[in-house]
Amino acid sequence: MKVVLVGYMASGKSSVGRLLAKQLGAKFIDLDSYIEEHQKKTIRAIFSENGEIFFRKLEHKMLQKVLNENESVLLSTGGGTPCYSNNMDTILKNSNHSIYLQLSVSALVERISKEKDQRPLVKDLEDHELPEFIGKHIFERRQYYELAKHIISCDKKELEEVVAEIEDLL
Ligand code: S3P
Repeated sequence: MKVVLVGYMASGKSSVGRLLAKQLGAKFIDLDSYIEEHQKKTIRAIFSENGEIFFRKLEHKMLQKVLNENESVLLSTGGGTPCYSNNMDTILKNSNHSIYLQLSVSALVERISKEKDQRPLVKDLEDHELPEFIGKHIFERRQYYELAKHIISCDKKELEEVVAEIEDLL
């Protein structure tokens, strides 16, 4: 069974994926970590040394590799993965389950402001610039996230509640 989690940065894809995989006894792959292991570099270093376009091509290649090489996997993607893969609709349709972890802009701002330095796309923004940046970004990206078969609204929910909701869907 293939399960793909999508959503904006800091929406909990990795934490939800890890806990869900543990509970299901499934293989878990976090695409960002997979890329970092493969390149032996952090995502931040890839962005700063090779640029975003290089990262996007690599991300797409690694996404295909993970899905081709694993018959059964729970995959958490990066926040931009569905937006830069031209066949994402097919990928999501061909997965048994695809789930968009949705959060409000204000909840994302709160989470992202605490860990801005780790995130190449927002690290140079001032805190007061985050709401407008994230709001516009989600507006552009939601059409891709919404290709997922299921949407889970995660505002004000504990990790365990989100995981339990997904388990009910599977
Ligand atoms: C990105 C999100 C990041 C990472 C990269 C780009 C994005 O992943 O892939 O920094 O374009 O939204 P997370 O969503 O896991 O933070």
